[in-house]
Amino acid sequence: VKPEVAQLRAVDWSGRAVRILDQTLLPGEVRFLDLLSPEEVAEAIRGLRVRGAPAIGVAAALGVALAGERSSEAALTDSVMRAIESLGSTRPTAVNLSWALGRMRGVVESFVGKHGGARDRAPEMKQALLGEALLIMEEDRALCSKIGENGEPLLEDGHTVLTHCNAGALATAGMGTALAVVYAAVEKGKRIKVIADETRPLLQGARLTAWELVSRDIEVTVICDSAAAWLMKQRRVDCVLIGADRVARNGDLANKVGSYSLAIAAREHQIPFYSACPHSTIDLSLANGSGIQVEERGEEELRVLGSRVVVPDGAGVYNPAFDVVPHAYVSAIITDRGVVRPPYEGKLGG
Ligand code: MRU
Repeated sequence: VKPEVAQLRAVDWSGRAVRILDQTLLPGEVRFLDLLSPEEVAEAIRGLRVRGAPAIGVAAALGVALAGERSSEAALTDSVMRAIESLGSTRPTAVNLSWALGRMRGVVESFVGKHGGARDRAPEMKQALLGEALLIMEEDRALCSKIGENGEPLLEDGHTVLTHCNAGALATAGMGTALAVVYAAVEKGKRIKVIADETRPLLQGARLTAWELVSRDIEVTVICDSAAAWLMKQRRVDCVLIGADRVARNGDLANKVGSYSLAIAAREHQIPFYSACPHSTIDLSLANGSGIQVEERGEEELRVLGSRVVVPDGAGVYNPAFDVVPHAYVSAIITDRGVVRPPYEGKLGG
């Protein structure tokens, strides 16, 4: 992987389109897609061409701005509200999506509310929508850097960090969440090694985390998900560090399926278990994790491996994409605002 690959942005605004790096093609191919309509953005989010909690929030916000740019003045409010609705239904678990869309809805409401009708101020509203989406993107970049800065002291020189899925630059508009902590530690001169769970069934760990770490010259070893507990038993892991898709007020958190098993194994072996996320991932409307909707994805993600059918006809398949880690297993939550230790209640913002 060439060094300039490290500078690539997972999601960006080209001036006329939402530009994403198509993550379904990695690590084999680096290809950017210019998405020219909110429908194309919705398809890209649903199909995981752009993925990771913060990145889908940013992509959706830009998709709403795009709906505005492309709309006639007369239909502006309707087109934008329709885009918010349809982008909001693409993936249910990461709260960053509804958080970002809520901000975009706020822009529409500020026009409709103040002037009883946005029609005569359509150009202004289009500009305000784009401005808000670009702000969400810029803020996400800054939040990632803050997370890195805040979490970096938790890693010591020589540490080996086990991570799951991809909570790196590819999952955000900036340098990542969990991996931002690794990048900040490396930047400080600490020697950090990463073990990346391959992350079945879609292999975000193997395909994406390993790719972005290799491109930044950080030592990474991919293991199959089921090897993680065994490595912990052998004391080959100093901490587990993952992202999050939604955090409830009490610290229960949803992340890629397999995170819960890691948390149990980490506790059994007295290994710290950290999650890093921006404040946009914290859902203060939820008292605990029982209210988090876990996305269930299609059977084909398990039935077919590459081009080969690996599950016999007649066998059922169940494919939850996330699980919820109870707060009691979480040693600390690293956010842009600081490092929060248990008990989490009342300390996660508001
Ligand atoms: O299904 P994905 O690939 O969107 O799942 C992503 C994750 O589970 C990440 O760990 C999470 O979004 C944190 S990203 C900074």
